[in-house]
Amino acid sequence: MKTVLLTVLPCLAVELAGGVGFIYSGLYDVAAVNPDNPVVAWAIHKASDRSVAARLGGIKVPPGLDAPQVAAAGGKLFGEQCVVCHGGPGLPPTAISQGLNPAPPNLFRAGRRVHMEEAFWFIRNGVKMTAMPSFRDTRSDEEIWSMTAFVRAAPGMSAKDFSATTGIGSTGIATPAAGTRPTGG
Ligand code: HEC
Repeated sequence: MKTVLLTVLPCLAVELAGGVGFIYSGLYDVAAVNPDNPVVAWAIHKASDRSVAARLGGIKVPPGLDAPQVAAAGGKLFGEQCVVCHGGPGLPPTAISQGLNPAPPNLFRAGRRVHMEEAFWFIRNGVKMTAMPSFRDTRSDEEIWSMTAFVRAAPGMSAKDFSATTGIGSTGIATPAAGTRPTGG
């Protein structure tokens, strides 16, 4: 037992010192413009996926989400709060959305499968160290479910339906579109 401890403890100490040293060294690049090392990216994504999956228990999809006016109400909110990052069919991507790492998923890609409890969880809780905000403190659960219903209706949505639901025309929203980078500065 003593020998085991004498072997394990120094190893742990060296690992800890190495970890702390790495943190203080500044070697890790946090710039959004540079992709993560594939191993780090895998570890972060796996940890995030497992974390969300472990927290879906207790979420129950309420009845009535199929009513068209529910998704329509969610679409209106989506147009106000989400489009800047997630975009919409027929819209040019914003400069903000193009500068994010991780990139916001395209919720309108045809064939995309939507897991309702998971989508609700994402919108309500947000995700640390990504740009995905939490709406728990600013929107009621009912409103979050209506946005979830809209997200379910999103895959393959036409630009016309998108515009009719959100009220956003093909000219996009009032943030600079990509490609308008000012010169100088
Ligand atoms: C500031 C940018 C930003 C805003 C605003 C934003 N999101 Fe996100 N969203 C993200 C990013 C980035 C991710 C990816 C997070 C990750 O990698 O885990 C994401 C992930 C999601 C997901 C999970 C998708 C998946 O992978 O299954 C859903 C659903 C979602 N957002 C819906 C919304 C809704 C609805 C709104 C508005 C109420 C919204 N988002 C507002 C950036 C944003």
